Amino acid sequence: MTTIGIDGLRFYVPAYALDLADLARARGVPEGKFLHGLGQRTMAVAPPDQDVISMGASAAEQALIGVDRDRIGMVVLSTEDGVDMSKAGAMYLHRLLELPASCQAYEVKQACTAGTVALQQALFYVSANPDRLALVVMADEARYAFHSPAEATQGAGACALVISARPRIAEITPVFGVYTEEVADFWRPVYREEALVDGHFSIEMYMRALAGSWADYAFLRGGVKIEDFARFCCHLPFARIADKARARLLKVAGVTPDKGRHLGADDCASYGREIGNTYTASLYVALASLLETGQEDLAGREVGMYSYGSGCMGMFFALRVMPGYTAALAAKENAKMLQQRQRISVAQYEEWRGQRLPEDGRTVRLDHFGSARFRLCGCAGHRRCYERSKTKITPAVLPVMNHTS
Ligand code: HMG
Repeated sequence: MTTIGIDGLRFYVPAYALDLADLARARGVPEGKFLHGLGQRTMAVAPPDQDVISMGASAAEQALIGVDRDRIGMVVLSTEDGVDMSKAGAMYLHRLLELPASCQAYEVKQACTAGTVALQQALFYVSANPDRLALVVMADEARYAFHSPAEATQGAGACALVISARPRIAEITPVFGVYTEEVADFWRPVYREEALVDGHFSIEMYMRALAGSWADYAFLRGGVKIEDFARFCCHLPFARIADKARARLLKVAGVTPDKGRHLGADDCASYGREIGNTYTASLYVALASLLETGQEDLAGREVGMYSYGSGCMGMFFALRVMPGYTAALAAKENAKMLQQRQRISVAQYEEWRGQRLPEDGRTVRLDHFGSARFRLCGCAGHRRCYERSKTKITPAVLPVMNHTS
């Protein structure tokens, strides 16, 4: 049987972050609620010249280092922040990443589970075309209303996976347990910039879908036994949910908390604690966190993966970590990317969030914010324009959006 799985795994976060202690002060909330209750320290904030396409392209560019791009037969974008109702965001990625004309490009949606749906399709594609590769790009900006309880669970970023029949990082068994139920726990009508959410109900649904998808995975589809998992990695809207999800999984699997202690939670949340929710990318940023910041050698071991998307659908699956996996990861680069981010004030974050591209077809050129590899450079005639940055710019004073009509 062919081994199919993850050969490349890279993520990208914008160069700006907001300290949640500052947000707590500005909102009159005890900082312990954000820092300990939710387990978050900072949240990534996208400047006006970053969106899901530019962030996705930056993550993918890194994942494609050393890859023969002519072998890529499929690029899928999963996002909740699609920039067009018709044209797939993957079309822009196809051009920015200089992929071959024989590579199919499309977009998928089902809240945060869309990343896993895209991964599943990539596995099917590579199993039918083992000499080719598939590129999965997940990118999002989690946005809720100012002053809402959900505001502290925002974030921004992208993750890219290269799927191959000779994976260096992890093999994925194509057995997926699923739980689907139509509910209104979190949603975003097309006319809104910010998501609407029934916070406590969304957590209840997250847990119900975990139990349901685990039951489908373990009892109906013959998945890996709970005692054979070395670790458990889950969708992370905020870091503290990892402990609660692990406790729920142990309960439904009939394992005592003591016996299930090794499944861990902390190292899968190390990156998320500094980034916040990245919706579709969040589970895969958590996987990078587990593999890059965990102390244990996971080679040859199984990791249980839980993907949740509001609305809602839960998916449970497993991956087996490959020998020598650390050589294919980028722990040092990622630590540097997170450390070098510039802290911004609450006022700056609010000002950026108020900026919009015009909706009347005017030409707008956006200033550079930071030194991202790819950027949204503006729009003209209702079309978004992207470019690869040529110069490295570290702004001493943050520039503002430059509108020209
Ligand atoms: P809230 O209701 O304001 O917070 O919002 P809370 O009162 O539940 O407090 C949170 C925790 O802080 C609690 O801990 C408090 O006790 C604790 P717990 O009891 O749960 O263990 N706390 C404190 N701790 C220390 N010092 C203090 C203090 N005060 C309180 N002083 C909520 C929380 C998560 C509901 C809100 O932020 C929210 O609505 N977030 C967005 C929704 C969300 O993230 N849902 C998660 C599941 S759904 C999902 O993951 C899908 C999603 O990614 C979207 C998609 O699929 O596309 C969101």
